[in-house]
Amino acid sequence: MSTEGKPITSLAAVAYEAGKPLTVEEIIVDPPKAHEVRIRIKKTAVCHTDAYTLSGADPEGAFPSILGHEGAGVVESVGEDVTSVKPGDHVVALYTAECGKCKFCKSGKTNLCGSVRATQGKGVMPDGTSRFKNKKGETLLHFMGCSTFSEYTVVADVSVVAIDPKAPLESACLLGCGVTTGYGAAVKSANVQKGDTVAIFGAGTVGLSVAQGAQARGASKIILVDINDAKKKYMHEFGATDFVNPTKDLQNGQTIVEKLIEMTDGGLDFTFDCTGNVKVMRDALEACHKGWGVSVVIGVAASGQEISTRPFQLVTGRVWKGSAFGGIKGRSEMGGLIKDYREGSLKVDEFITNRRAFKEINDAFEDLHAGDSLRTVLDYTN
Ligand SMILES: NC(=O)c1ccc[n+]([C@@H]2O[C@H](COP(=O)([O-])OP(=O)(O)OC[C@H]3O[C@@H](n4cnc5c(N)ncnc54)[C@H](O)[C@@H]3O)[C@@H](O)[C@H]2O)c1
Ligand SMILES: [Zn+2]
Ligand SMILES: [Zn+2]
Repeated sequence: MSTEGKPITSLAAVAYEAGKPLTVEEIIVDPPKAHEVRIRIKKTAVCHTDAYTLSGADPEGAFPSILGHEGAGVVESVGEDVTSVKPGDHVVALYTAECGKCKFCKSGKTNLCGSVRATQGKGVMPDGTSRFKNKKGETLLHFMGCSTFSEYTVVADVSVVAIDPKAPLESACLLGCGVTTGYGAAVKSANVQKGDTVAIFGAGTVGLSVAQGAQARGASKIILVDINDAKKKYMHEFGATDFVNPTKDLQNGQTIVEKLIEMTDGGLDFTFDCTGNVKVMRDALEACHKGWGVSVVIGVAASGQEISTRPFQLVTGRVWKGSAFGGIKGRSEMGGLIKDYREGSLKVDEFITNRRAFKEINDAFEDLHAGDSLRTVLDYTN
């Protein structure tokens, strides 16, 4: 029996309150309106940004909501005027939309898109309403335009891309955020070149993806900096050449900035913050080579946090910049990443360290903070 045009009962994990575990329950998902797409999510993973919003540190975090933004599935139905995807298509949800028509999209200078930004930030669809409610009839908000922690979700048609159905959905879902964010930051936002030296603070999925992007470009030195020694085992797999744990590997009062400058004869060509810690962001900038070093902020800092450095650092040629979703335009560039993955030049499967049934989602949040785990992929079908 077709579900098209009807509300669907869906398994979901509801974030009712900051700092509390998610509640796994059945919710009601309304059909898609014009320019909207209802997706049956098959696989979703937990990114650090979900944990950050759930913790209450996100100024835009609103509750109750359906979190999740690394997800892939199959289109169940589409609303009026949707031409880019059709029922049955395999898709990845995109938290960075691409409309192709707004000032941002037309600029050719950024992957940010203004089309759904205002409503996405408020947790509603572009018409200002939500498609989710719980069984008591209470409205549940959307998150990052994706809400992949519901088996059925509704997204704007500019926030979804069809992919090659031969790509496994459990891998495709990681291209919805972590892998694409890090890889794109290296090859697009920073545009690392052959022979460059690179330091990456934070060896999670994002940081290790920066490493593989830098390796793809032929960087001569790729230094991972992480306070968790358990991450060291991944260095060679993703192309890093060195690993420094600032809590253990610094001697005689040396700072991490001094250590990195010493290791690279004056500083790095590129550094990346993949921690969200504003002190680390400062170290990353100051470890850059005088005259040309570029530091890219990827990590999401807690509400109210600010970055600082002496202006002289910039006057003497260091550049501070940021990157969202790796500078990648989701609808026009996802196909290329999927192709790279299928041809073996982009590692994705290697980031899947844990697999769980969707109902174990709260354990997946614990995995993110534990030992050597990178990504836990959740499966709705068991
Ligand atoms: N800009 C974007 O588009 C975007 C997209 C995805 C994620 N993010 C952000 O990127 C960051 C990384 O995400 P992730 O999913 O890889 O997270 P993760 O939790 O898997 O990895 C973070 C790593 O940083 C390390 N770390 C923490 N504090 C450190 C410190 N002081 N010095 C060195 N290392 C430290 C941790 O040990 C961990 O290995 C998060 O802040 C996340 O919110 C940004
Ligand atoms: Zn993310
Ligand atoms: Zn746009």
